Amino acid sequence: MCGIVGYTGPRPVAATLFHGLRRLEYRGYDSAGLGIQEDGGIRVIKRRGNLDHLEPLLGDLPGEGGTGIAHTRWATHGVPSTENAHPHLDCRGRIAVVHNGIIENYQELERGLTSRGHRFRSRTDTEVLVHLVEENYRGDLLEAVRAAMPKIRGTYAAVFLSADEPGVLVGARKDSPLLLGLGEGENFLASATLAFLDFTRRAVSLENGDLVRVTDDDWVILDINGGSVERKVFEVPFDATAVQKGGYSDFMLKEIHEQPQAWMDTLRGRMSPGNRLRIEELEEDRFDLREINRIIFVSCGTSYHASLLGRYVMEGWMDIPVEVDISSEFYYRAPKLDPRCLVVAVSQSGETADTMSAVRWAKRCGAPTLAVVNVVGSMMARESDGVLYTHAGPEIGVAATKTFLAQVAAVYLLGLYLGQERGLLEPEFVRHTLRELEDLTGRIEEVLGDTDTVERCADKYCRCEDFLFLGRNINYPLAMEAALKLKEISYIHAEGYPAGEMKHGPIALLHPGFPVVALIPRDSVYEKMKGNVEEVRARQAPVIAVATQGDAEIRSCCEEVIYVPEVKPQYYPVVMAPALQLFAYHVAKMRGCNVDQPRNLAKTVTVE
Ligand code: M6R
Repeated sequence: MCGIVGYTGPRPVAATLFHGLRRLEYRGYDSAGLGIQEDGGIRVIKRRGNLDHLEPLLGDLPGEGGTGIAHTRWATHGVPSTENAHPHLDCRGRIAVVHNGIIENYQELERGLTSRGHRFRSRTDTEVLVHLVEENYRGDLLEAVRAAMPKIRGTYAAVFLSADEPGVLVGARKDSPLLLGLGEGENFLASATLAFLDFTRRAVSLENGDLVRVTDDDWVILDINGGSVERKVFEVPFDATAVQKGGYSDFMLKEIHEQPQAWMDTLRGRMSPGNRLRIEELEEDRFDLREINRIIFVSCGTSYHASLLGRYVMEGWMDIPVEVDISSEFYYRAPKLDPRCLVVAVSQSGETADTMSAVRWAKRCGAPTLAVVNVVGSMMARESDGVLYTHAGPEIGVAATKTFLAQVAAVYLLGLYLGQERGLLEPEFVRHTLRELEDLTGRIEEVLGDTDTVERCADKYCRCEDFLFLGRNINYPLAMEAALKLKEISYIHAEGYPAGEMKHGPIALLHPGFPVVALIPRDSVYEKMKGNVEEVRARQAPVIAVATQGDAEIRSCCEEVIYVPEVKPQYYPVVMAPALQLFAYHVAKMRGCNVDQPRNLAKTVTVE
């Protein structure tokens, strides 16, 4: 959370930084600011609110090339306000910083700095950084940052600027992402490649403990002891068109419609000429899959729901137990792990702090780790023993949609692969199942091509303030995901519940103004689900069923039916997910909500 950008080069500096902020706005949007080297000093403009509030102030900033830093904030310490917006300046206004992360010992540092005469202007943890650098500054910004950073406890990606060193940016990174974008005669530092993708696709991911000094034609990375460090340059695997709305009114809607592609791209190219399923990323012998006797998924939010879904699939295809933990609780449970337990971290961003902590705990226990992530080169991908990429492309909308479906594709693949490698699944079964999965692409397209009923339901129920989503078996995680989608973008209270559990409590909530969405495809629990629907109806709550095309019977006991194509029972979440995402989307739009940037949320949660 928080997006930071640094630029040095010949392009109009303010406009280039602002463009980068626009690309990173999904990371946080409660306040924003820019700091630019100008006339031997640093000019800072900042504002409470999102970038639309900052934009009118850009007019009188220099239109020519130069060097500067910028920030869009998701508040952790200090309320969203103009004073707390970044950049922050030192006492003399000669050094500026933008920061993403949390400085845990800031109060102790602030007390010391104040007693030595420093005056603070904000109520943020970040401001101590710039005062510490000021205290260590002897004409060399890199050296000052190197001297200051060991005093910091916590997480940071920070970029500094000094009025006395024209054309120089200095970055430091620990546990929050920071990337270098390498252009021709210009360079960038940013929280994500999206910030500079319109200008260059060549990038370097900084690692924990790295310090970097950047000018328009040079860059050098040092460790905290001043030793020089080599890092690999990589090419970002997509271009700037992937992060534009492409004619859609919102990124979320565009990303919902990109799901057939995301689904297919994640499955594509997995069959070897010898007709075996191959996941090349897992063939590097860093762990022996035949030795594994337990699997634990760790993840948060939508990724947690994809993991839960994975458990249903895998347990059917494998002979070992599969557990799923919410990352932020995993650590407290302090589970006993050993080298035969595979810990699978599922994350869109690959930067989520809670999931990173779970991965590190696993490593400390000697358990092998596998990351299922979407962002190439992300921290989780780098720190895990193996990585399976979801190929959903960049996702800008804060609500995860296409990356959810891509994660589901990845966990199906993983289940098949593990079953194959452990000698439990026949090659013909694996091949056939992979083909079935690929064929689902067409079914997803069908759902996206016929949205009239979804829109009608949204229109009819968008003023309700509570929703219950019910599912059983593999559709239970989807009920949770559908509820999460609705609550995060429309601010409606929604719960996803196992249908059989409703009678043990939530049924008390039901009344005629409390709609229940029942996921009731034609599968082995259809009759049981119907029983639950009757229980709801007996309490006069309206029922919206999501059911199998052609199921006329269900009509008689529901107010509305959203039909999805008939598929094998284990694949219903794949065709129901887009319909439920669209339902949430239309409800939110009808309530006038900003679906791409819901309040209080950030796309990448890099604090615990
Ligand atoms: O990047 P991650 O997948 O690790 O993120 C996990 C959650 O923060 C994320 O899924 C969040 O719940 C989304 N807003 C859901 O739409």
